[in-house]
Amino acid sequence: MSRTVYVNGQYLPEEEARVSIFDRGFLMADGVYEVTSILNGKLIDFAGHAARLERSLKELEMAAPATTEELLEIHRELVKRNDIDEGMIYLQITRGNPGDRDFAFPDPETTPPTLVMFTQSKPGLAANPVAQKGLKIISIPDIRWGRRDIKTVQLLYPSMGKMMAKKAGKDDAWMVEDGTVTEGTSNNAYIVSGNAIITRALSNDILHGITRAAVLRFAREAQMEVIERDFTIAEAQAADEAFITSASAFVMPVVEIDGAPVGTGTPGRIALRLREIYLDESLKTAI
Ligand code: PDD
Repeated sequence: MSRTVYVNGQYLPEEEARVSIFDRGFLMADGVYEVTSILNGKLIDFAGHAARLERSLKELEMAAPATTEELLEIHRELVKRNDIDEGMIYLQITRGNPGDRDFAFPDPETTPPTLVMFTQSKPGLAANPVAQKGLKIISIPDIRWGRRDIKTVQLLYPSMGKMMAKKAGKDDAWMVEDGTVTEGTSNNAYIVSGNAIITRALSNDILHGITRAAVLRFAREAQMEVIERDFTIAEAQAADEAFITSASAFVMPVVEIDGAPVGTGTPGRIALRLREIYLDESLKTAI
């Protein structure tokens, strides 16, 4: 059965969904996106994703094609029409189709933004067996642009990073700039030392993860210490535990960095506990 997707006000079978070749998302990577997870048919942290989307649009002076309430409605409708129990919803907004190629931004009055959304069904997302195994990662230089806080669709380097990891027989990569870890290719990065969770502070250097915000809040509520500061790969290799967070991976342990085992080389106790807390607590507020 074909998926029902959403394009500019219409629900269509995926085969019939079309975007222009002049769309600035296609020609210029002039677009922003969000990935929201679905558990038990409900949206996890929709408000957080909607707020970050609004911020991304504002930073790029891009018009919003719909209100948050309308976006929520479309999200819910797509979950319903595609009968999604566990998975993700992808949302992308671009600066639209000006009818030609030009570096200057088009006038939003005559060129409305493009909005597309689609679901990805991933049964078993919450019970992902990878969490019991952990991820093996490599480090790579962070050569991305300076506004990583904006969730743009410029994902070529993160894709190259994932391919570098794959070629090395590993699962993912952490990026390093000026000697310290910024973040993972599509996730935020953490280490654990004793009872303390250490992760880079928010700035333009990293994406302000919605899962990060929730996990740090839950960690503090569980009386764990949270320290927001830079850390090096050497420090991570010598840490008790390491893990990542994202809307699609939730909390996922990291067990090896550049060939060196982290802690016992098996998923850490705190990482697994945080995964459990995150899944329990975010389900309570899922909508
Ligand atoms: N990636 N850092 C980067 C570079 C990311 O691309 C992501 C998310 C995160 C985590 O953010 P959040 O917790 O809000 O998902 C951090 C999504 C999942 C993706 O590109 O598929």
